[in-house]
Order: sequence, then structure tokens, then C-alpha cells
Amino acid sequence: MSAPMGMLHAMSHHGGQAPDVGAGTRRRVWAFASPYRNKVTGFVVTVVLTSVLGVIPPLLFREIIDGAIADADRRRLTVLGGLVVVAALAHALLSFLERWWSATIGEGVIFDLRVALFDHVQRLPLSFFTRTQTGALVSRLNNDVIGAQRALTGTLGTVVANAITGITTVVTMFLLEWRITLLALLLVPLFVLPARRVGSVVADITREGMNLNASMNATMTERFNVSGAQLVKLFGRHGDETAGFAARAGRVRDIGVRSALYSRMFLIALTLLGALGTAAVYWFGGSMAIDGSISIGTLASMGVLVAQLYGPLAQLTNARVDVLSAFVSFERVFEVLDAPNPVADAPDAVASMPGPGGIRISGLSFRYPGADEASVASLETESTPDEPGRLVLRGLDLEVAPGRMLGVVGPSGSGKSTLASLLTRLYDATEGSIEVDGQDVRRLTQASLRSRIGVVTQDAHLFHETIGDNLRFARPDATVEELDAACRAARILEVVQRLPDGYDTLVGERGYRLSGGEKQRLAIARLLLKDPDIVILDEATSHLDTENEALVQEALAEALAGRTSVVIAHRLSTIVGADEIVVLDEGRIAERGRHEELRGAGGLYADLWEGLVREEREGREQPAPRV
Ligand SMILES: Nc1ncnc2c1ncn2[C@@H]1O[C@H](COP(=O)(O)OP(=O)(O)O)[C@@H](O)[C@H]1O
Ligand SMILES: [Mg+2]
Repeated sequence: MSAPMGMLHAMSHHGGQAPDVGAGTRRRVWAFASPYRNKVTGFVVTVVLTSVLGVIPPLLFREIIDGAIADADRRRLTVLGGLVVVAALAHALLSFLERWWSATIGEGVIFDLRVALFDHVQRLPLSFFTRTQTGALVSRLNNDVIGAQRALTGTLGTVVANAITGITTVVTMFLLEWRITLLALLLVPLFVLPARRVGSVVADITREGMNLNASMNATMTERFNVSGAQLVKLFGRHGDETAGFAARAGRVRDIGVRSALYSRMFLIALTLLGALGTAAVYWFGGSMAIDGSISIGTLASMGVLVAQLYGPLAQLTNARVDVLSAFVSFERVFEVLDAPNPVADAPDAVASMPGPGGIRISGLSFRYPGADEASVASLETESTPDEPGRLVLRGLDLEVAPGRMLGVVGPSGSGKSTLASLLTRLYDATEGSIEVDGQDVRRLTQASLRSRIGVVTQDAHLFHETIGDNLRFARPDATVEELDAACRAARILEVVQRLPDGYDTLVGERGYRLSGGEKQRLAIARLLLKDPDIVILDEATSHLDTENEALVQEALAEALAGRTSVVIAHRLSTIVGADEIVVLDEGRIAERGRHEELRGAGGLYADLWEGLVREEREGREQPAPRV
């Protein structure tokens, strides 16, 4: 992990230097390419044939001038001319085939890489997502994968093709006339050295452009989702936001201009080299032809060959930088693929079987993982300061018998949501253990554990898809009757049926067209479809107005019936009937008992209860706004 990161770091400081790519990266790239070995062979064979065909027309020209024209043989002239056409057609066909091979290989590898990345990132622990900027991550999955593709199809393809073409051409030229060939080769360093320099500058610019694009992407994904857009509007920050964005986009623009100019300089150098080289060949070869030491046909064919030589040569001298900077993309991709996953399934993990759903928590302590665990440093904006020592939960002992309800209350920040995350194993306990039906959750496969637990939080997330798709997220094969039953139980069926498109109604990003209570009830319907053994509610009713709350309460009652439940409540009225209530304070259990006992105890719970009663009295006089 540290090697590629160190390398990325080094690159941004030593402009102009081609980055070093570890042998490990090269090996991994080949590993990704190895299923395509047959296609690679096909590609190389095609390239060889193409470049051999490329030197045939100049040789035919020589025959035409020195043979057919000199002997005034029209029939031979026609045959030779016809052969040139055939060679050109075959060349065209082969170069098409060559591109087909290289594209299938490149796109194929990229497909594998992309799917591997998507799969890996999905499995990374939640802490990865809380620490990573979405936009930067998306950019890594798009732009860097495309960069890696360029490495494969573009650069590696050109290197092989150019090397073979260059060699074929030089050999042919030497066989025809070695002195002119030497002269032509003498000119090469004159242009190649500056071209190399320009090439490495271009590579640096490209890399900087990638980072800038990523930061532009990050801004857009943050601001252009519903909550971000709403925040910008409510604070009237359009002007400042645009200015900030313009600053970033401006740097992308400047880099684009610089990159265009440098690329053009490179092209101009190439064209100049071609022109000067051709002139030198004609001048030197011309005087040799006057002396009679070479034929005019040889001169003409050398003139064509020299033009075919400079392109591949110049591209080859630049290739090292190209290949290396393209490998950088691979390394950035591998860096994400290598992100450690501390919450992986144990090798001998077993499936958790549906059962009564009893929970036992013993000696549970937890601190959130720091930056060094489960994150990719180059994807974080700046390293957030960590307090590695702070325990969010301290020594909890709890037991929920099957079918019973545990209420959890406590001030904001006391660790309630954290406890919920640990139950579903979004994080692993720092100390102590959590058992479900007598099995430590770390010994269970995450998929089987989570299939047994349903969670409803205060912000029910709906994907930007139809209501039906959102519901089937819990059970892809659910029939309409099952959807109806779940929605009826969740008290949302009427709302869905009133919509013009019913289950086919698209819910906007984050389901914004539905009210908070409706979203909440849809989330409960989704949970009912999942039919879990254990239900966790994390302040599921805290944002609702009284009318909505009544409906959501009914829906929740359905969700809880007959299941083990952990109910984190903002409104104590939700947990009055709980079998046990624990009061968390700064990660510790401050009090525990049933509602009546706790209320009489005069502790934290009694205070919270007083506050609630007062709040609800005021709430009735002044209805809370709809969410
Ligand atoms: N992803 C996180 N990384 C680091 N600290 C966190 C994270 N999430 C929550 N915390 C911290 O853990 C503590 C408990 O948070 P939380 O469980 O959300 O409290 P509650 O749900 O009781 O309001 C808080 O101090 C919070 O700042
Ligand atoms: Mg919370």
C-alpha cells in the first residue's frame, strides 16, 4: 500500500521525471491481461504483417522507376501499379484487424478491472465511505480506468507496432542504401531529445489534469445532490459556489491549453524532422544519383521509407514516459483494489440460519477506525484529525431474548447509532463480542447476518428508481401481491395506489417527491418484504409530524410484531412498552430497567422523560412542520 502512495506523492514534486513503476505493478497488469494471451499473439502477428506490407510499396516504386519506366515496359508498369494497389488494400485490411485486436484486448482488460473495482469498493467497510469523497472515488473509477486502458491499447499497442515498423523500415533502408540510411538516422537525436523532454512535461500535465478533474467531479457530486443543492440555495451561496467552481475549472482550462500547446510542439517537431530528413535524403541521394552511384528508383523509394521511419522512431523515444505515466493510472486503480477491508468475512465463516434472533452483547467497547485502517489516503481531501484513543462505546453488557424489545435512549452523541452499526457488523467491535443466536457475528458471513436483520433509520434512503424497484431491493422476486401486502401493513398502500403510475412511479434522488413519513413507511414496507428475524429502529420517527407519526407508529408496530427488536428512540413514547430500556451516556450504560422503574428513579431517564412531556405539550399547541 505504501509504495504506490509514496510514488504518487513523489510524482507531484518531481515534475518532468518519469515516475518509477514497480515490477509488482507490471506483473499485475500482465496478470490482468493474461486471459487475452491468444488475442495478444493475434495482435502481434497482425502488426508484423502490417509493417512488412508497409515497406512493399516503396520497393515497388523503385521497380517502376528503374525497371518498367527505364525499359518503357507498359505491361510491367500496369502489373506493378496493380500490386501497389493490392498492397495498399491488404495494408488497410490488416490495420483494421490490428485495431480490432488491440481494442478487444484493451476494452476487455478494462472491463475486468472496472468490475473488480466496483465489486471491491462495494464490499469495503462503511468507514471507507465515511472518509472518502464520492466524486473523487467516481473519478478514480472512471478517469483512471480510462487512463489504464490507454496504457494498454494505446501505448503498449503503439510501442509494439512502432518498434516492429521501425525495425522493418530501417532494415529495408539499409539493404537499399546504407549511406543515406546513416544520414537519415543521424538527424534523429536532434529531434528526439527535445521531444522526450516535451513528452515528459505532457505526462506531468496529464496527471495534474486528472487530479483537477477529480476535484471538479467531487464538487459537482457534492453540490448537485438534493441536500447539497438545497443547502446552497438556502444559504444563498450561488455566487461563491460558482466562483469556487470557476477557480477549479479555470485550472482545468489552463492545463488544457498548456497540454494542447505542448502536444502541438511535439507534432511540429515530428513534422519538421520528417521534412528535413526527406530533404537531406533527396539532397545527399540526389548528388549520389547524379554521380550515378545509385539509381533514381532507389532514391525515390528511400524518400518514401524515410518518411515512414521518423514517426515510429519519435513515438518510441517518447513511449517510456507514455507507458510509465499510463502505468500510474494502473497504480491508482490498484491502490483502491488494495484498500484493506478489516470487516471481511472470516475464511471459515458460516451462514447464520434463520432462527429466534436472540442477541447477547458482552464487554463491548468500540472506537471508530482511524485513517490508516480502511481508507485510501489519496482519496481523502485532507487527513481528518483523529482521536484514536476515544472510545465511543465502553464495556456494554446487554441481552435481548428472542422476540423481546430492547429500548435504547440517551443524549445525542452517546453512541446509540454506533451500537446499531455494530449489531449489523458495519464495524467490528474493538473489544468484547456480539452474538446472534449464540454465534459471534465475526464468525458469520456478513450476507447471511444482514439478511436476518432489518434496519430503519431516520433518513430512509430510496434509490433513484421506481417504487417497485426500491421495494424489490429487499426481495427481487417479490410478486405484486407481496408488494401490496407489505405496503398495506406499512400503511403506505393507499398512497402508492393514488400515484398515477403506482409501483412504477420514479422516486427522485433520495425519494424527494415523497414526504418524510411516506418515505419512512416505504422503508418499513421494504423491511417487511425482507422479513428479518431482528429489527433495529434508529430514531425512525424523530422527523415526523404528529399525523405522519401515528401512521408510521402503526407501520412500525407491524414491523416489530413477533421479532426481536432494538429500538433507539428519540420519542420515549415509542419504547414505553419495551421489555428492557438502557440509557446510554457517553458510551456507557447509565441506567437500565423498565419504563416505570426508570421514570421513578430520578436519573437521566426521568430527566429525558420530563423534557419529552414538556416538548409534546408544546408540540400540540404548535404543530411541528412537515419534513
Ligand atoms: N464515522 C464516524 N467516525 C468517527 N466518529 C464517529 C463516526 N460516527 C459517529 N462518531 C462519533 O461517535 C459518537 C457517537 O455517535 P452516535 O453513535 O452517532 O451517537 P448517537 O446516535 O447516540 O447520537 C459521537 O461522538 C460521534 O461524533
Ligand atoms: Mg444517532
